[in-house]
Amino acid sequence: MPTDVITQKVSDRYAKAVSTGEQMCCPTSYDMGHLKTFIPEEVLKISYGCGTPAGLKTVQAGETVLDIGSGGGIDCFEASRLVGPTGHVIGIDMTDTMLEIAHRNAARVAANLGYPASNVEFHKGLADAIPVEDDTIDLIISNCVINLTPDKRKVFQEMYRVAKPGGRFTISDIVSDQTVPQYLVHDTQKWGDCLSGAVTLTDYMNGMTAAGFLGIHLVKFSPWRVIDGIHFFSVTLTGYKLPLAPTASLIRYATLRGPFSRVVDERGRKYQRGVPQPISTDDVKLLSHPPFADHFLLTADPVVLDDHDPRWTAVFPAQAPCTWRGHYALLAGPFVEASDDDRHIYRRGEPLEICSKTLVVLETKGYKPHFVVLNRAGDRVSGEAVTCSPSEGGCC
Ligand SMILES: C[S@@+](CC[C@H](N)C(=O)[O-])C[C@H]1O[C@@H](n2cnc3c(N)ncnc32)[C@H](O)[C@@H]1O
Repeated sequence: MPTDVITQKVSDRYAKAVSTGEQMCCPTSYDMGHLKTFIPEEVLKISYGCGTPAGLKTVQAGETVLDIGSGGGIDCFEASRLVGPTGHVIGIDMTDTMLEIAHRNAARVAANLGYPASNVEFHKGLADAIPVEDDTIDLIISNCVINLTPDKRKVFQEMYRVAKPGGRFTISDIVSDQTVPQYLVHDTQKWGDCLSGAVTLTDYMNGMTAAGFLGIHLVKFSPWRVIDGIHFFSVTLTGYKLPLAPTASLIRYATLRGPFSRVVDERGRKYQRGVPQPISTDDVKLLSHPPFADHFLLTADPVVLDDHDPRWTAVFPAQAPCTWRGHYALLAGPFVEASDDDRHIYRRGEPLEICSKTLVVLETKGYKPHFVVLNRAGDRVSGEAVTCSPSEGGCC
């Protein structure tokens, strides 16, 4: 199907939803009571997102925020409040009906917030040809839009182009647990339903890495629908465009503290727990970001860590029975690959089947933030405990 046909069908679908009052897409976790205090009902009732990318303490005062596929403007208006009167928000959308509602309400929201003038502007534009200058955006947000775009590679490149060096994104979207089959891809109706254009989490994250973003990781994950055996999830992801200027720093080495025994980052660099590794100034910039910072000891001189050191954070295999109950562990990033102390190799975004013994390990404080655990078993599983070890080709 030609990409312009998909784009037109999606646009028509959203214009129609607005005119009929149809509810679309997915559950979000907005605090509607709070939003109602400054955003008009006309905007709130056409909220078609699948997350709250502007509401996750990601937006900071004075920033310039871009919302790709801003719809009626709900996230732009929340970002407007959060950036304050000195900040700036740009919403882009391809659908005129959406833009008209957003435009109409911008002045009302500014008045409700007590701003002298609106700090939000809305423009007509496509996600794969963003009408914004290079290197100008502190934070890119988007809520349930990129799955609707036929050429995601171009969208990610555009995001990278407009982000300031040192900028970042927080995006909510729909992804699938397997490649969506052709009979759904070519169903134009299901494009608008956020199904046909969904890609796997791994493809989504790898697409962003290919565009240049780093430190990409999941910050939220919720199951949404299962259609023909394909699981669709709502996810929120964050990632960074590294600053250009070298930071003056004495740091030359990184030592992985744990809990993983080994990790591979998005540039293919490998780190072994406890072993100091020489790093570049770019690595220093990246490893100082929140998703990495807790994992590493960054030092001027090489520091070897072992299990006597309180900074060493290994979690060893649990002494627990191994039963298979349908659980899968999905590495949330920012590493593209990571190993535990039971020789599992987890790959970012890819579900790996695990037994109850591994589940105990992944639910410990050290591992929990780095995994999403799913259960794919249709019925309650009544399996007995088994003996397993990696050498027997088993799980643990
Ligand atoms: C599911 S709605 C979400 C709207 C808004 N983000 C929200 O949370 O309410 C998708 C929006 O993205 C816009 N959209 C879809 N594909 C687009 C594209 N390729 N370029 C620009 N806007 C697009 C649609 O017009 C629609 O307003």
